Amino acid sequence: MDKIVITGGRKLKGEVTVSGAKNSALPIMAAALLSEEESIIENVPDLRDIQTMAKLMRSLGARVLFENGTLAIKPGRTLKTLAPYKLVSTMRASVCVLGPLIGRMGYAEVSLPGGCVIGPRPIDLHLKGLEALGAHIEIQHGYVNARVKKSLRGAEIYLGGSFGSSVLATGNVMMAAVLAQGKSTIENAACEPEVVDLARFLKKMGARITGEGSPRLEIEGVKKLHGAKTAVISDRIEAGTFIMAAAMTGGDVLVKNVEPSHQNALIDKLRQCGVKIEKGKNTIRVRRNGRLKPVDATTLPYPGFPTDLQAQMMALMAVTPGISVITEKIYPDRFMHVSELNRMGSKIFLEGPSAIVHGVKHLSGAPVMASDLRASAALVIAGLVAEGTTEVHRVYHLDRGYEKIEEKLFALGASIHRDRE
Ligand code: EPU
Repeated sequence: MDKIVITGGRKLKGEVTVSGAKNSALPIMAAALLSEEESIIENVPDLRDIQTMAKLMRSLGARVLFENGTLAIKPGRTLKTLAPYKLVSTMRASVCVLGPLIGRMGYAEVSLPGGCVIGPRPIDLHLKGLEALGAHIEIQHGYVNARVKKSLRGAEIYLGGSFGSSVLATGNVMMAAVLAQGKSTIENAACEPEVVDLARFLKKMGARITGEGSPRLEIEGVKKLHGAKTAVISDRIEAGTFIMAAAMTGGDVLVKNVEPSHQNALIDKLRQCGVKIEKGKNTIRVRRNGRLKPVDATTLPYPGFPTDLQAQMMALMAVTPGISVITEKIYPDRFMHVSELNRMGSKIFLEGPSAIVHGVKHLSGAPVMASDLRASAALVIAGLVAEGTTEVHRVYHLDRGYEKIEEKLFALGASIHRDRE
């Protein structure tokens, strides 16, 4: 298995271009199933998760071509309706095909995704929304069997759960509602930019949706959708990871192809830490000369501080003099990176859903194990400021969501390479 090898101590300098957002591209790929015509999706990152989704779509009968960041998806007149355990268990976002399959075929058999290293990740809200639209749902042998008798019917749906809104549940239910008869409303809808991007694509396909980006979506069902062309938004989590890496190393980096308004929660925190941030039209310049200052952060649904940047923020706090606290409100168990960061010399103590971080002067390079995608990114950026050499193992997690991260960091002056084994 590959590993990433980093020798710490270099300040990042220069320019880096952010790729398209994985978490936007995945539901948009599923949405393409809603029409029999071909759709074109541009600015798609070449990642393992995208390849997994492409494989699933092919197994459903769609023709999928992926070249130079552009996907061409032609579902055709009929689709198979089975999303097997083998694919869904490797990538939870596969569950996004449920809404489109029910909407178009009236039937779907989708494996339950099961456990996840960042904690329990139920899909009850997805199912509640689809049932409200008239789908009859049974769980049998680890599969969700969803069937619609005549057609889906518009409904009033409340999608709030114990941890607030859900990004993929909102997407799944919205994708089913666009082909339902009549009007649907989704209350407590997720407001994440990826949901807005999905709605934008659905509207290009002929769907009638208003309110995207707010907690209340209104959807007027239509009979049929057509193929459409879109380009996915840039990846705000990848951008945030580079912004933090630049801040931690005391560097000067221009992050390009970024939507600055998506980064407000992170920028607010980093400015409190003493980092200089300048927003351009599609760029963010990050500089730091003085010492980092401690800060507290709590993850929340958008526009709050993203859970997908919690691990990276913890790496930054680990080398910030003083005590910082980070509280995880989306996935209270998403702390697998703590023990690995502590192996690098950080002093992080868990107290329920909060991590108390006592900043240390230096981290020390060590062999560490990535547990999930964002934890891997945190270990990589921790390696950039650690004394000596850090080896990050199990980088297949990283490859699910970061396109060529080692090449991009190398181009910014980091001492980093991938050892292929
Ligand atoms: N939840 C429920 N019931 C549901 C669905 C979710 O209780 O039916 C809970 C979850 O357990 C969690 C909270 O609601 O506590 C929010 O989860 P959400 O459904 O929003 O997560 P998701 O849609 O499955 C997406 C991203 C995740 C990201 C979260 C939160 C994709 C493919 N995944 O997941 O990204 O952490 O939103 O922003 O879009 C990652 O990229 O590393 C990643 C994990």
